[in-house]
Amino acid sequence: MTDLKNLIRPLVRELHGYVPGEQPKIKGLIKLNTNENPYPPSPKVLAAVKAAADGRLRLYPNPTAQPLREKLAKFHGCKPEHILVGNGSDELLALAVRAFVEPAELSASKKSRSTVQFFEPSYSLYPVLADIHGAAKNPVPLSKDFTLPDTEESPKLWDSRAALTFVTSPNAPSGRGYFTSVLEGLCLKQEGIVVLDEAYVDFGAETAIPLVASTAAIRLRGKPPMLVKVPPR
Ligand SMILES: Cc1ncc(COP(=O)(O)O)c(C=O)c1O
Repeated sequence: MTDLKNLIRPLVRELHGYVPGEQPKIKGLIKLNTNENPYPPSPKVLAAVKAAADGRLRLYPNPTAQPLREKLAKFHGCKPEHILVGNGSDELLALAVRAFVEPAELSASKKSRSTVQFFEPSYSLYPVLADIHGAAKNPVPLSKDFTLPDTEESPKLWDSRAALTFVTSPNAPSGRGYFTSVLEGLCLKQEGIVVLDEAYVDFGAETAIPLVASTAAIRLRGKPPMLVKVPPR
């Protein structure tokens, strides 16, 4: 009999599952490390959610989430076409890998086309997404004080043509946020796509949303907001 495991794609068989952050079992503890909020939702939010849970649940939602995108665009001062709504932002991160990164192993000269680049330490899902996709990974160490290293000073480590670069701001687990001017500089120098993952921006860091208007950028919003910078043509 065929071992079911042999039917799984070899690449997937070799994957290590994503390990979520520490999940303490202490009752009533608010897990800030997993982004839990110490405060309950506004009573207005609860009322709106309850009012929406009626017979309409039997229907498919608007396929492009157009009404939601219009409201989010108004709230964030951009256009609905800058917004992509996902089922959690992990889905949007996965979509970005699928959309922008070549899975096949390319010749050394074209390796950048299949490279997912990210800083270390940062979100542990980025390398997992690269592995699932059969892409190359380029983890680049942050400076000792967790600031972004000067990418021009380390051309051997940094790939300015990487198909996709993830930058988390503020970063997890360091908690350090990066100024929009710094991120803009990095985006403009990069030839590939840069995703600015602002999962934790509401904890007080500067948001890079204004870049949407000033550079050719697409804004993605799942639970956490993300910015995708499109390289100039
Ligand atoms: C940096 C970062 N981006 C994205 C996510 C995914 O968030 P979501 O729950 O919206 O999928 C997380 C969750 O841990 C995260 O830490």
